[in-house]
Amino acid sequence: MTTIFDQLESNVQSYARSFPVVFDRAEGAAIFDGTGRRYIDFLAGAGTLNYGHNNPHCKAALLDYIDADGIAHGLDMHTRAKAEFLQSFKCHILQPRKMDYRLQFTGPTGTNAVEAAMKVARKVTGRHNIVAFTNGFHGVTLGAAAATGNQHHRGGCGIGLGGITRIPYDGYLGSDLDSTQLLQKMLLDNSSGMDAPAAVIVETVQGEGGLNVASAQWLQALQAICREHGILLIVDDIQAGCGRTGSFFSFEPLGIQPDIVTLSKSLSGMGLPFALVLIKPEYDQWQPGEHNGTFRGNNHAFITAKTALDTYWSSPRFAQDVQRKAALLHERLTAITELAAPGQIHTKGRGMMQGISFTQTQLTDAITTRCFESGLIIETSGPDSEVIKCLCPLTISDADLHAGLDILSACTAEVLSEANLLAAAA
Ligand SMILES: Cc1ncc(COP(=O)(O)O)c(C=O)c1O
Repeated sequence: MTTIFDQLESNVQSYARSFPVVFDRAEGAAIFDGTGRRYIDFLAGAGTLNYGHNNPHCKAALLDYIDADGIAHGLDMHTRAKAEFLQSFKCHILQPRKMDYRLQFTGPTGTNAVEAAMKVARKVTGRHNIVAFTNGFHGVTLGAAAATGNQHHRGGCGIGLGGITRIPYDGYLGSDLDSTQLLQKMLLDNSSGMDAPAAVIVETVQGEGGLNVASAQWLQALQAICREHGILLIVDDIQAGCGRTGSFFSFEPLGIQPDIVTLSKSLSGMGLPFALVLIKPEYDQWQPGEHNGTFRGNNHAFITAKTALDTYWSSPRFAQDVQRKAALLHERLTAITELAAPGQIHTKGRGMMQGISFTQTQLTDAITTRCFESGLIIETSGPDSEVIKCLCPLTISDADLHAGLDILSACTAEVLSEANLLAAAA
């Protein structure tokens, strides 16, 4: 029987193909289909639901706000909701970290924030070129797609994507080649063919690119090169930020201070569209309205984002719990890798952004499909979908975290067994 989705929805839909049921309601780390079947959600809106589905604190605040006829849409005008969000962001995020940034509210998706970040860097420096990295993912609008590595997304743009110099990410060519040295050499060589960059845009953990982790040392070297050559450092924290790696910003423990930071995904606290660019004050050189958009600053998201900040970031407790769960996740994933014959699987990632990477890339789809049949929603990432990525809500209970990992472990063992790749001792 053809469904209304088959009849009308564009062929571009993707997640619906991996999880072919009709979802109806969701709560915390669980999502339910129309028959009432419960799935543990290790995808969590691709990192948008760090505080769980329908977070009760955010939901209550939003219901109160709507009930009081609070402003839903206000262009970029001053509203009470915006003032309260700004106040909480200053008090819980900027001040404790001694950070000084101006906040630019862009159109509500991550790619909007990336476009604005790249534009303002170009405007400030008067340069057009931007350095981006292999396996980086920054969105699919033309500017962001140019910085994105994946050919599937780039190909969809239909025009040449320019203005980017691509450099290998940390570890791309193994541990012996430090790609910051390549960048430095190219910048110093008048004949390298590289135009002086306005900015470098980097993820500290490449979420879509396969959970590649940049080391603190590599990022610090990158920052030093940026400073030396008048290049702005943009950290795209859209997926790795908002607590995902165990601190609010993914770069906090890494000894760098980006000039520009992009945030979106979990920023709103409950999955509402919302994006933000943090810009060091000296680089906030926009003219009024120069970069605009009808949906800049979603007032409902201001309310829920403020509530998430007040609830989870007013003390170190939440971050500590995320770090505890990350250690548990690592332990369980390591145990899964031990199911396989040597060299077949290894763990990747950082914090609550970890997964398992397969040498035999064709196995991952079979495993995630079986996980879904067993009640776990989990997706892959990486250029060949070779990494199974755990991106569960940070608020997940230990019981659900273990239950989800039990399913992943059992399904991995089944598929490895069928492929004759179980560890000999198993
Ligand atoms: C690091 C990063 N930047 C940008 C984006 C684009 O965000 P959006 O899909 O909301 O446009 C994503 C989305 O996955 C992302 O992971």
